Amino acid sequence: MSKRVTTQVSAGEIAQQYKYIEILRDYNQKRVSDAGKPVKYNIETFGCQMNENDSERLSGMLSEMGYSESAKRAESDLIIFNTCCVRENAEQKVYGHLGALKKLKENNPELVIAICGCMMQQPEVVEHIKKVYRHVDIVFGTHNLYKFPELLNTAVESRQTVIDVWDSTGSIAENMPITRKDNLKAWVTVMYGCNNFCSYCIVPYVRGRERSRSMEDIKNEVVRLAMEGCKEITLLGQNVNSYGKDLEGGYTFAGLLRELNTVDGIERIRFMTSHPKDLSDELIYAMRDCEKVCEHLHLPVQAGSTRILDEMNRRYTKEQYLELVEKIKTHIPGIALSTDIIVGFPGETEEDFSETLDIVAKARFDMAYTFLYSKRTGTPAAKNPDQVSEEVKKERFDRLLALQNSISREINDELLGKEAEVLVEGLSKSSKTTYTGRTRENKIVNFKGSPELTGKLVKIKIDTIQTWSLLGKLI
Ligand code: 5AD
Ligand code: SF4
Repeated sequence: MSKRVTTQVSAGEIAQQYKYIEILRDYNQKRVSDAGKPVKYNIETFGCQMNENDSERLSGMLSEMGYSESAKRAESDLIIFNTCCVRENAEQKVYGHLGALKKLKENNPELVIAICGCMMQQPEVVEHIKKVYRHVDIVFGTHNLYKFPELLNTAVESRQTVIDVWDSTGSIAENMPITRKDNLKAWVTVMYGCNNFCSYCIVPYVRGRERSRSMEDIKNEVVRLAMEGCKEITLLGQNVNSYGKDLEGGYTFAGLLRELNTVDGIERIRFMTSHPKDLSDELIYAMRDCEKVCEHLHLPVQAGSTRILDEMNRRYTKEQYLELVEKIKTHIPGIALSTDIIVGFPGETEEDFSETLDIVAKARFDMAYTFLYSKRTGTPAAKNPDQVSEEVKKERFDRLLALQNSISREINDELLGKEAEVLVEGLSKSSKTTYTGRTRENKIVNFKGSPELTGKLVKIKIDTIQTWSLLGKLI
């Protein structure tokens, strides 16, 4: 079979979208001068950092069109939901919000309601929205986000519902605008999609196959960010360890890290997510050698029982995972590990679950994101008749959380009296004098500081330990 090679959306197609941006900018300018007030948009993002990054792109397009962002839906001219379908509760929330918008639309027929993201990649969801939520104006998916200016223009001109969802794409759109939430820390998507098909997961069906951005485009983006004052980047992909496999020229994620490590002005590099089966020795060495790459790794384990891991199609055993953890800790002393764990996968017995508790105790994660298994239609695990009851899932979940909390606390306790390098992010939410930042290991540290420290790396002596954050003093 010949290798699939990722291509880019043509420059002509991108230029076309900029034309629609211009048309909408003119239209909005007229609205602003007629009404004497700005045109506003409100965007709500569900799910992971990839979606956050996609919303930053939508914000970029909208600000070029002359919209300003508003936190209030009621005063907005355009409302967007960027959705997630990894678990059912995220979907239910979206339907709740959509229902509540019906009244707003009745009061303001000019209001445009758009819905996009992973949920829209499921045909039955689009059908449901068409039937039940007829006040929605625009529906689009993950593969044609860059076409938003065109879709919005069509909806505004035609006053009809516009639905455009693509099954898949082998292309990547570069050079569209972006407005980031944070100037100091930025998300940089390095690849899209996933080829792994873990049996519980909907992502490969809604985000398509793995597609890597070119190293040159990524580096250019990072250099630009550094020039704008960004200090920390987090490289994003569903499975960053596969970076480059779809590109010609033998690119690897380890190579990408080494390249980005040379960008002046960037102080810290993080990345997520790594699949344990693909984590190469080269990557471990790159993490060890590159001084900007932080001592933190997100390495989802999902379960501790080898039988369940096999049913999940994760392609590693409990022992292999623990060996990998050992190897990482040996090469990168002091590294903080975080993980994802699913409780109550179909067929999970008490014995299987005790293996999860055991792997958590042995790997000693700094932090774990724990999820109740959620049945996703279309995935192999959803067809398994042996579903675990909600009661049992919740009871196991609580036990897992209690264990992880005590481990997180013990690991943090060891930091008492130690010095840490902290990138200062600014004032903490609840205080006028307490500043907040993170260590290289991604731990939150609060301390008394002053405004000019924001964006700087400072040394802090840790003097108080809390389960989720640390307190300290400037040295
Ligand atoms: N149910 C519960 N959790 C899930 N995840 C993915 N699919 C499901 C599901 N069906 C979790 C995995 C993954 C994280 C992003 O979401 O732990 O690593
Ligand atoms: Fe889902 Fe597995 Fe791909 Fe992660 S690696 S996005 S869990 S299929």
